[in-house]
Amino acid sequence: MKIVTNPSEMKNLSTTYRKAGKTVGLVPTMGALHDGHAALMAEARRLCDVVVTSIFVNPIQFGPAEDFSKYPRPFDRDCRKAEESGCDVVFAPAAGAIYPADFSTFVDVEKITDTLCGARRPGHFKGVATVVLKFFNIISPHVAVFGQKDAQQCLVIRRMVRDLDCPVRLVFVPTVREQDGLAISSRNMYLSPEERRATPLIYKGLSAAALLYESGERSAAKLKEAIAQTIRGSALLAVEYIEIVDMETLAPVPQLSAPVLAAVAARTAETGTRLIDNVVLGGTF
Ligand code: PAJ
Repeated sequence: MKIVTNPSEMKNLSTTYRKAGKTVGLVPTMGALHDGHAALMAEARRLCDVVVTSIFVNPIQFGPAEDFSKYPRPFDRDCRKAEESGCDVVFAPAAGAIYPADFSTFVDVEKITDTLCGARRPGHFKGVATVVLKFFNIISPHVAVFGQKDAQQCLVIRRMVRDLDCPVRLVFVPTVREQDGLAISSRNMYLSPEERRATPLIYKGLSAAALLYESGERSAAKLKEAIAQTIRGSALLAVEYIEIVDMETLAPVPQLSAPVLAAVAARTAETGTRLIDNVVLGGTF
């Protein structure tokens, strides 16, 4: 497996692959790789001749009070995990190579970033869309793979690709979970043991809503209340939002008809760890 840090070198390498008729798959990550990331790499491996994983803790998608400096960066371990997962190239640029001092162009996907996580993390999706477009331009992937765990991120990238005619096929992989249902996340390592024991309630709540939906319930208020009630089962979880929204516009849907996204964000009481999860009701992603 190759490790590339220089963007020009990455661009040349990608051009060489494309000229040789190979398809290139990109899995953008911030490292601290886990089995969720591995599932994305496996999907890229299945679909493409060459798999590139980017590892870059993107400074511009973190708010001033967020965990940029303490975000885990186990680079050697990540490279082993990427190689085991079938990756051919790790692209790990330095921040200065991506954002030189005079950097001044950003991608702002409007409207669908005004809700859910976008409403609580100003500038977050602007940072995500900007870095993802840069990586698309550096790597020119045929396919880019993202995880449904970050549902709003998937929809923001999809909007950007449509609006800006990015020549890439997007693939969204279902959320990989721990045995007790907790969505795997690099941030789970911040949890205290007591918090960790409480966290499966989030997916339990979403599953309760899915069950109610299957039995015919279509009122968003009732479905949201089922989720809220489950999560209230632990004093260690504070709900940030519980929303049921349209898959395209992310606007709230009071009475369900088409497929909708049921999305939750919660913060833990002891370590203040922010956790998100979601399910799609009445369809797929
Ligand atoms: P990161 O949080 O490292 O996630 C990288 C990719 O892995 C994202 O597409 C995310 O949705 C996916 N992922 C994370 N946990 C997952 C799980 N449990 N199951 C399935 N997929 C999972 O998301 C980012 O980084 C950044 O915002 C990035 C897109 C790299 C831009 O900086």
